[in-house]
Amino acid sequence: MASRAIKAVRGMHDLLPGPAAHRRLLEERIVSVLEQYGYREIRFPMVERSEVFAGMGMTSDVVHKQMYAFEDRGGTRLSLRPEGTAGCVRAGIEHGLYQGGEVQRLWYLGAMFRHERPQQGRLRQFDQIGIEAYGSAAPGMDAEILLLGSRVWRELGIPAPTLDLNTLGTPADRQRYGAALAAYFREHAERLPELDRERLDRNPLRLLDSKEPVTVELCRAAPAVTSSLSAQARAHFDTLCELLRHSGVAFNVNPRLVRGLDYYTGTVFEWSLPGLGAQNAICAGGRYDQLVESMGGPAVPAIGFAIGIDRLTGLLEERQAPPDHPHVYLVACGDGTESAGLVLAEELRARLERLRLVAHCGGGKLKRQLRAADRSGAEYALILGERELAEDTIGLKHLRQDLPQETLPQAELPARLEQLIPAPVP
Ligand code: HAM
Repeated sequence: MASRAIKAVRGMHDLLPGPAAHRRLLEERIVSVLEQYGYREIRFPMVERSEVFAGMGMTSDVVHKQMYAFEDRGGTRLSLRPEGTAGCVRAGIEHGLYQGGEVQRLWYLGAMFRHERPQQGRLRQFDQIGIEAYGSAAPGMDAEILLLGSRVWRELGIPAPTLDLNTLGTPADRQRYGAALAAYFREHAERLPELDRERLDRNPLRLLDSKEPVTVELCRAAPAVTSSLSAQARAHFDTLCELLRHSGVAFNVNPRLVRGLDYYTGTVFEWSLPGLGAQNAICAGGRYDQLVESMGGPAVPAIGFAIGIDRLTGLLEERQAPPDHPHVYLVACGDGTESAGLVLAEELRARLERLRLVAHCGGGKLKRQLRAADRSGAEYALILGERELAEDTIGLKHLRQDLPQETLPQAELPARLEQLIPAPVP
């Protein structure tokens, strides 16, 4: 009986060879920039106890509506992580990373899960590279993180994204601002669409993010955050802007920028690329000076951001050829050649670290093996027949160029391949 093939879950995509190699290249290039700034990798599980994410705010859509939450067989409430910050904080507290007083700079990379409505650029499983810096409340730390982000975009060679910057002020400022917004929108509550009326009750700041035309129009006359800022918050933000101007980082102060997660205090920011369509934010973050303490750790200030890798991949694909096809395909044809071929392949891999060599397994006619060599995308076929085996030589066929086949002693092969295989671009 024929069974229907099973498909991937909606909003969760496969990355096939080619695109997967692009992705790795992209990740490696970003990570090398993070390491230049002293960030160190941390890995933590994709699944956490659900209460870990409570700190992200019960009023945020991510927690309220989008979390993949379930009970495991032992009856424990667990969630697939919708983002990395909360898990990073949990792990750091558990292992005492935030004791001691020195600044911790951490990065992580991996899959996040949100049960959103899938569309272009919005997935249910997506990858983020995140950075988090703990232990400094200085505006210089905010500036460094924004400089780091700007360097990432330059290193990737993508069009310069727009940086929107705002401050939500101290927690008290934020509360004051929330109250001011709520008072304003309550006066117009009857004009608000249902979803936004709900937001008004849960978290009035989120109304500034609304895409509903009526709400967008009402937002124009809504009070700006600047009116609720304390002198301390204003001074922090002014210093940050000054540092950025001095370092040549372009930015727009956007007093309407609020973030979807509740843990932010102070600086918030978002980089977006207009060409990407509706989901055009490629990186976002901000300060969350109270989260560590509220999750049971010491009172350490923190700031970070996360890059949405899936949204960047398309941009890079247009620019780079996939670097994952084999350089060489080894063909072995005739008595005793298969086992000798496997040994030769091992020797070559040991001698030439960067060589990508696929050995034909399972024998077959020379013509068929050469067809497989061609289809593999390799540049060269190495041919080991009975004659070559007897004479300790090897045939080298250029698969992509019209050049005569070479025959050379096996001992000279590593040096010849060294000449032929391009060194990786640093
Ligand atoms: P976020 O704004 O929720 O922040 O996500 C950061 C980035 O992840 C977004 O700008 C976007 O590029 C990407 N992203 C988010 N949701 C999706 C999705 N459904 N599909 C594809 N890409 C998506 C955070 O997650 C915070 N943890 C950032 C942070 C770190 N703040 C402080 N530290």
